[in-house]
Amino acid sequence: MSKRDFLSITDLSPQEVTDLILRAGKLKGGVQGRPLAGKSVAMLFEKPSLRTRVSFDVAVHQLGGHPIYLSGDEVGLGGREAVSDVARVLSRYVDLVVARTYSHQTLQELAAYASVPVVNALSDVEHPCQALADILTMNEHTTALAGLRIAYIGDGNNVAASLALAASSVGASFVIASPPGYELPSDVVRRAEALAVGSATAIDQVTRPEEAVEGADVVYTDVWVSMGQEAETEKRLKEFQGYQVSPSLMERAKPGAIFMHPLPAHRGEEVSEDMLDYPRSVVFDQTENRLHAQKAILELLIGGESTH
Ligand code: CP
Ligand code: NVA
Repeated sequence: MSKRDFLSITDLSPQEVTDLILRAGKLKGGVQGRPLAGKSVAMLFEKPSLRTRVSFDVAVHQLGGHPIYLSGDEVGLGGREAVSDVARVLSRYVDLVVARTYSHQTLQELAAYASVPVVNALSDVEHPCQALADILTMNEHTTALAGLRIAYIGDGNNVAASLALAASSVGASFVIASPPGYELPSDVVRRAEALAVGSATAIDQVTRPEEAVEGADVVYTDVWVSMGQEAETEKRLKEFQGYQVSPSLMERAKPGAIFMHPLPAHRGEEVSEDMLDYPRSVVFDQTENRLHAQKAILELLIGGESTH
């Protein structure tokens, strides 16, 4: 059987996204057996991480497998050793590679040369594991995913792209308010709209946060300066002024709307000081759900017979 990668949320069909969320919810209640017994997972990180690293490590342990953390510096991905060689070497030892890379192309190259599945632990283009955890969290805190209105305030970045695609997959609508020049990439909008065909969902792009949150069930934001964009900090902090999520912005959303953020958060920038402690903030549920969603994806990709 050929291996299966998870580089984009659209590597799963809409039905699989729904099934995976349901499975993650079950795994949250406890893992039966050791589906990853005898299996090893390499976790290769070129950028810093708290949640993704710890939740993947714990997920592999809970499923009975063995996680191995590798920092980008140590491996020298593309420097000490060619990406294609790293992929082929790791494939001789481990059953799956989780990778966080600066460039999405590096991830694609790893996947092209690895004979084992490669999972995107965040690249400059997408953060699909985050989107799965986010949809699981929305499912827990709202009455139905279909017809849900998600308002995303800020940068049309990796997190926004995966969330827009995931939203379309489950029949939710996605509206993003971003400053000019920071919209979702047009190919993401096209792909999300193609997924939404036949349902009432859509991707809307506006510039005013107040317009986006009107009627929203979920208000979501992420940092203004992503990892790898540090050189643009001054420019970005200026251009994102007015895009902060605060309790007063939340008051313009639907009564009972929840607040979400993938974390880490920058208080005083994309969120006001008090936002994470807002009564309807579910950010730490999102954090926990990374663990359960990733158990479901590991089980799907390598939970069967050993390939070694
Ligand atoms: N949300 C998220 O991916 O966090 P880390 O960067 O800490 O892994
Ligand atoms: N957009 C952020 C997400 C961090 C989890 C980044 O790429 O740094």
